[in-house]
Amino acid sequence: MKQEVHGNLSGVKDSLIAAMGQLYLYEVDEDEFLPRELMQVLAKFTAMMNREIAVYITRDGEIVEVCVGTDRDVELRDYRLRRNAQRLSCVRCVHTHPNGDGRLSDVDLSALRSFRYDAMVAIGCQGGEPTFVQAAFLGEKQNILMDEPARWYRTPDDAWMQQIFESDRLVGWGEAESKTHQKERAVLMGIESEESLQELARLADTAGAEVVASFLQKRDKPDNALFIGRGRADELCRQCQALEADVCILDEELTGIQVRNLEDILHVKVVDRTTLILDIFAQRASSAEGKLQVELAQLQYQSTRLIGQGLVLSRLAGGIGTRGPGESKLEMNRRRIRERMTELRRRLDAVEKQRALRRKSREKNDVPVVALVGYTNSGKSTLLNTMTGADVYAQDQLFATLDAVSRRMETAEHTPYLLTDTVGFIRKLPHTLVSAFRSTLEEAALADVLVIVSDGASSEMLHQHETVEEVLNDLGATEQPRIEVINKVDLGLANPAIPGAVMISAKTGEGLEELKDRIARELQKTYAPVTFFLPFAQYGVLSQIRPLGRVVNENYTDEGIELTIVLAQADRDRLVSRYGKDILKK
Ligand code: GTP
Repeated sequence: MKQEVHGNLSGVKDSLIAAMGQLYLYEVDEDEFLPRELMQVLAKFTAMMNREIAVYITRDGEIVEVCVGTDRDVELRDYRLRRNAQRLSCVRCVHTHPNGDGRLSDVDLSALRSFRYDAMVAIGCQGGEPTFVQAAFLGEKQNILMDEPARWYRTPDDAWMQQIFESDRLVGWGEAESKTHQKERAVLMGIESEESLQELARLADTAGAEVVASFLQKRDKPDNALFIGRGRADELCRQCQALEADVCILDEELTGIQVRNLEDILHVKVVDRTTLILDIFAQRASSAEGKLQVELAQLQYQSTRLIGQGLVLSRLAGGIGTRGPGESKLEMNRRRIRERMTELRRRLDAVEKQRALRRKSREKNDVPVVALVGYTNSGKSTLLNTMTGADVYAQDQLFATLDAVSRRMETAEHTPYLLTDTVGFIRKLPHTLVSAFRSTLEEAALADVLVIVSDGASSEMLHQHETVEEVLNDLGATEQPRIEVINKVDLGLANPAIPGAVMISAKTGEGLEELKDRIARELQKTYAPVTFFLPFAQYGVLSQIRPLGRVVNENYTDEGIELTIVLAQADRDRLVSRYGKDILKK
């Protein structure tokens, strides 16, 4: 730690700053809580600047930081990371109140809780002298133990020193089990719109955090250094302290420098929207390929912003931004990250080649693909379940499905097809993810028919629909027929309908017959009945044709066999080019 005085030093004389710097040389006896002499010196400095001043004292009696604030507050530092996350920080915070009031404020007490100081002490100062002093300690289950303010020359030094050790024991005990299930407390901050912020809240909830507050500050252009501007950042710091937040989530993509600067001011972990989405993907990825894709996307994102990963990377306690298929990456340096990324790309290439082979073989002799696409949470998995009786993970959470899941279906006329559920789309879908999940999303791009599922109960349906169209266009999925579907009609409609959409409820089954009908009609456009005539000499060809589609009629005559079958145009053309036009019935 640099031996510098920190904080709000504007207008403070150099000589005074140098004098305050001498505090670092001051040694407190190991068994002494707060020497009177130190209180007097702090009161003098406070009067000379009319500003708060804070010193942080370790259990060894060393002063590790001196920080100057305003006349109302002083920045409170996070020392939590120095030790085990479930014990006290081993540092006590002693600070002055220039208005003479020696009582601890709510902000002081919540900082005690969130930063787990050994003790939080306020010294009231007036006319350059200390007045009253109050100390607070943490107890079991985050309770605060606090005496009434004492006159500065009558503080119970021994009892307070004892209390630190007692608190350390109580905190370590009481929280070991409760901590494991405790959710991260998240404060959200957006600059775009209330809707986007609400979606961020759902994302945070999906990631397992508890949203304790969300703030919107509309800005056209984000601040380069801090994203939200210095004044707002200071206010946010106080809000995070008062709300005992563990993490502040911003509703945009931040640069590494912005993350680091904001963490410096807020003293809580700062996470941006992309990191949050990556975190959810990391928790959800289940297939080997999904895991590789998520890890690659996380590393790609991190490698460009290593600089800003201060609290996130050093945090032992985990939480949003620290989870991933390759946990060890958290300690990686740039070179290791590059190596790992090359390795992941190599493995993904291999998987993708296999996938391409599988796709090719399906194209050659298998059935058409109907892909369900749509915004996350629109009900795609539920729809796949109701239509096929498949057991896909459907939950009121975002991105419940990451891997493409396919089920074999048949139309009423027995034309077989594959119904595929895809990863949900979302606005501001991180670019790294779009490219990482390209091969999964391409399932949709290569489908023969797209069923676009919209959530009719969401007031955001039309915006969400736009996003889905954008992503589909990005993927080049523009050629195939589209069937628009508005889902959740059982909840009532919040929107004007999309023209031509089929109204359904995947939950109650309403409208599903019409949807199946529409799918069948679309498939029929590319699938038509074809009649072959094969002399007995070519009997063997039959076994190649039959599995390609639905046989409508099979007739044995004296000259040979007549077979009518519903076939894809491509299959018909392939058979004709291999066996000649003569195999078609004249
Ligand atoms: P992602 O995996 O995030 O892309 O979501 P999804 O589109 O697959 O949505 P999912 O099927 O997981 O459904 C999301 C939520 O909406 C679940 O809680 C479903 O129970 C609910 N849901 C789906 N369809 C309907 C419906 O027709 N009516 C009602 N009331 N709820 C529905």
